[in-house]
This record gives sequence, structure tokens and C-alpha cells, in this order.
Amino acid sequence: MSKKFVALMLAIGVSLLFAATYIYAGTAVQDTFKMETKEYAKHTKGLAEFTHKKHVEDHKIACGDCHHDDKGKPLALKMGDDVQRCVECHKETGKAPEGEKLTKEEKILKYHKEAIHANCIGCHKESNKKAGDPTGKKPAPTSCADCHPKK
Ligand code: HEC
Ligand code: HEC
Ligand code: HEC
Ligand code: HEC
Repeated sequence: MSKKFVALMLAIGVSLLFAATYIYAGTAVQDTFKMETKEYAKHTKGLAEFTHKKHVEDHKIACGDCHHDDKGKPLALKMGDDVQRCVECHKETGKAPEGEKLTKEEKILKYHKEAIHANCIGCHKESNKKAGDPTGKKPAPTSCADCHPKK
């Protein structure tokens, strides 16, 4: 085999590898990550951290409590399944125009920020209430500063 041929095969191999990671990008998720949806023109708040693995394993939340289909119906998923990002359906990352009249549900469906907040904060409030909050400390974060660190 000529050196040129080996180099060519290597180059093809490497590009296939990149193609594969690109195609399957929706199937992998980090254990913990800062939520930074790139469709926002600019983040006005410090980036909130999300402990994905901890929510599944320690807090025992089902995938379908957060991931649903295009009707809003909970998805029964397992690790390795292809999963859409929230912004693919809750598309709007801009601000609501002055005087826009929408119901709470319509707002959640339209605006990414509203969908995220309804999901995260909605469950945290429920969970804190159920926990009875005996220490007076709220275990699941619900205030802006709990999630968004000062920039
Ligand atoms: C408490 C909520 C929650 C639970 C429970 C949860 N996820 Fe997620 N998951 C998220 C959020 C939020 C993201 C980030 C989505 C985004 O960037 O729009 C995400 C991202 C992902 C991604 C990456 C998607 C992409 O295209 O980048 C995969 C894959 C995934 N989750 C699979 C699962 C599976 C499988 C389960 C159950 C074993 C699960 N998730 C449980 C909230 C959750
Ligand atoms: C495939 C499209 C799609 C994706 C992806 C999607 N949603 Fe939704 N979501 C919907 C639709 C449609 C509804 C409205 C359902 C209804 O009107 O009953 C909805 C409703 C909601 C609601 C309000 C109802 C409820 O379940 O409390 C929240 C909150 C929400 N989505 C958050 C999220 C989050 C967080 C993510 C990402 C982890 C996400 N959505 C990903 C389509 C989607
Ligand atoms: C369906 C319920 C549910 C949803 C949805 C949910 N959480 Fe949580 N979260 C919890 C529970 C339960 C705890 C642990 C509370 C405790 O310690 O008792 C928690 C804890 C946390 C913590 C503290 C660190 C940890 O993991 O213990 C952070 C940060 C957090 N959540 C961020 C988020 C963000 C960001 C989202 C939305 C993308 C989100 N959560 C969605 C239930 C939920
Ligand atoms: C449970 C955690 C949590 C709480 C509490 C919370 N947020 Fe968020 N917020 C998030 C996450 C996660 C995103 C999505 C960021 C992304 O995907 O890029 C977000 C997005 C945003 C955005 C749009 C992105 C940006 O930086 O401009 C704004 C504005 C925002 N939050 C303001 C607030 C305000 C104001 C409060 C208090 C009333 C609050 N948030 C409470 C987790 C939280």
C-alpha cells in the first residue's frame, strides 16, 4: 500500500467519524451542563446549570416529565434515543411584543423561556411543597438568583 493511499483512507475515516457525531448529536447528553440555547441572540442572565443525570438517577424523574412529542404527550425514552431540543418547538427566543395577548398555555408553547421556566420552576415548587420544607430551606431552586448566577 502506498503512503498516499493510507493517508487518503485515514482522511475518509476521520470525516466519517465527524459525520456520525454530527448526525447523532441529539442522542447524547452531558451529566451536568450550563443551559445555553444558542438560538438566543444574547443571554441577559447568567447561565443556569442543569444536573441532567442527577434529575434522572437521584431525583427519579421520568424522561417524559420533561421530554414530550409534538402534541405535548410524554415520551417514554431510554438513554441513546434521539431527543429534540426544547427550542425546536418552543421556538421564540425574543421578547414578547408590548400588548401581546396570549393565554398562559399559548405563551408557554411560543416562548422558549416560558416553557423552560414552567417545566423547571413548576416542578421545583411542587417538589418543595411535597417535601414539606421542614428546615425552612427550599431544596429545589425556585428564585431567579438560585439558578441564574450574577453575570
Ligand atoms: C428534569 C427534566 C429532564 C429529565 C427527567 C430528562 N431530561 Fe433529557 N434533557 C432535559 C433538558 C432541559 C435538556 C436540554 C434540552 C435543550 O437543550 O433544549 C435535555 C437534553 C437531553 C438530550 C440531548 C438532546 C439534544 O438534542 O441535545 C438527550 C439525548 C436527553 N435529554 C435524553 C433524556 C433521557 C433518555 C431521559 C430519561 C432517562 C431524560 N433525558 C430525562 C431535561 C430532562
Ligand atoms: C416536538 C415538539 C416539542 C418539543 C421538542 C418540546 N415541546 Fe414542550 N410542548 C409542545 C407542545 C405541542 C405543547 C402544548 C401541549 C398542549 O397544548 O397540551 C408543549 C407544552 C409544554 C409545556 C406546558 C405543558 C406541560 O407539560 O407542563 C411545557 C412546560 C413544555 N412544553 C416544556 C418543554 C421543555 C422543557 C422541553 C424540552 C425539554 C420541551 N417542552 C420540548 C411541543 C414540544
Ligand atoms: C419533574 C420535576 C423536576 C423538573 C422538571 C426539574 N427539576 Fe430540578 N430538581 C427536582 C428535584 C426533586 C430536585 C431535588 C430537590 C431536593 O434536593 O430535594 C431538583 C434539584 C435541582 C437543582 C439542585 C441540584 C440538584 O440536582 O440537586 C438544580 C440546579 C435544578 N434542579 C435545576 C433544574 C433545571 C434548570 C430544570 C429545568 C431545565 C429542572 N431542574 C427541572 C425536580 C425537577
Ligand atoms: C430552576 C431554574 C431557573 C429559575 C428559578 C429561573 N430561571 Fe430563568 N432560565 C433558566 C433556564 C434553564 C433558562 C434557559 C437558558 C437557555 O436554554 O439558554 C432560562 C432562561 C431565562 C431567560 C432567557 C435567556 C436570557 O438569559 O436572557 C431569562 C431572561 C430568564 N431566564 C430570567 C429569569 C428570571 C427573571 C427569573 C426569576 C423570576 C428566572 N429566570 C428564574 C432557569 C431558571
